[in-house]
Amino acid sequence: MKKKLNLFSEIIMYLALLAQMLYVLIGNTVHEILGIVFFVSLVVHIFIKRWWFRAVTSGKGRKGKAGIFANIVIILLILTSITLMISSMGVSRILFPWFKFMMEPLFHRYLATALLTLSIVHGGMHFYFKAKAKKRAVVLITLLAIAGLAIGLALVPYLNRHLRKVEVAFDEKVRGEKVEMTEEIPLVVYFTRVGNTDFEPDVDAVSGASLMKADGVLMGNTQLMAFMIQDAIGSEVIPITLTGEKYPSSYMDTVSVGSRELKEDARPAIEDIDISGHNKIILVYPIWWGTVPMPVATFLEANDFTGKTIYLLATQGSFGFASSTSDIKKMAKGAEVVEGLSIYCDDIPNARTEITEWLKKIE
Ligand SMILES: Cc1cc2nc3c(=O)[nH]c(=O)nc-3n(C[C@H](O)[C@H](O)[C@H](O)COP(=O)(O)O)c2cc1C
Repeated sequence: MKKKLNLFSEIIMYLALLAQMLYVLIGNTVHEILGIVFFVSLVVHIFIKRWWFRAVTSGKGRKGKAGIFANIVIILLILTSITLMISSMGVSRILFPWFKFMMEPLFHRYLATALLTLSIVHGGMHFYFKAKAKKRAVVLITLLAIAGLAIGLALVPYLNRHLRKVEVAFDEKVRGEKVEMTEEIPLVVYFTRVGNTDFEPDVDAVSGASLMKADGVLMGNTQLMAFMIQDAIGSEVIPITLTGEKYPSSYMDTVSVGSRELKEDARPAIEDIDISGHNKIILVYPIWWGTVPMPVATFLEANDFTGKTIYLLATQGSFGFASSTSDIKKMAKGAEVVEGLSIYCDDIPNARTEITEWLKKIE
């Protein structure tokens, strides 16, 4: 009975973990419920295997290099599980919305990847101890562990980019608290794929779209942020618009074009933007290959920023500003460049409050 319950809890854990990693396919509600299922099964599993703690502390556990390795994996598994449980509550939107600690989604994803990989190695060690061909067992466990890492680090972001279609209600996400600017209202200039890409009329059919729709209208991440600022401070908002060839509709093709443009240090032609009447400019841009998209470079080099301040609001699929800040300083001659926020792409629809608080700091 105990053995059966243990096997059942193990199978549930592996399945729940794998299904949860396919977040983009199952959606947030199922993801959170499966999280509970996972942690309940984990508690059951640990309870059944509680003898392990006694064995390890009394020195009666498995011996030899493989035994020590298996024990280290178990300790890492326990530590990762506890941290993942806290971070799961931190990123939860339905079950634990009041929990405001470890709220970083990317950290959550890395923890889940670590847990999946360690779980595979842990399961693999049981197999190793029983296997006759030890070397073959090691190769198999290594390959499966690499597969676990690949699922978390490559497949999940890939699915996110290709299948993610976010639908938001514009007013609910964009409208909010107003911020009074004491001196002048900054001009907002943004660059996004939408408006600079040859999307087909039936854009939902575009492969690798990774697109957001606000009230059914296609919208870029930076564009939504620009509108949030506009609603808060009543600023003028100007998009950086290509005049020549647009980016391809496939996300991956755009990634390749972006890479080529960076290598060639290209300056794609854009429509003129008049910044002469403004001393403060908020530049909203996505990180492309660790820096600004090249059309943003065109904008920065085409204008005289002497005596002006540029506030940076970036978005990315990882974290931070990468080398965009130092590159912008070189490109925008005469400008004072001030880092503002860099928001993870998935967090943008819910970033109105964060943006408002930041705007309050710009005098
Ligand atoms: C060509 C290209 C290159 C990118 N390079 C990076 C990168 O180096 N680091 C990163 O974190 N995100 C990168 N991303 C992800 C974008 O920064 C992210 O999806 C952003 O929110 C897109 O904003 P948008 O919808 O306004 O275009 C890249 C996206 C594209 C299209």
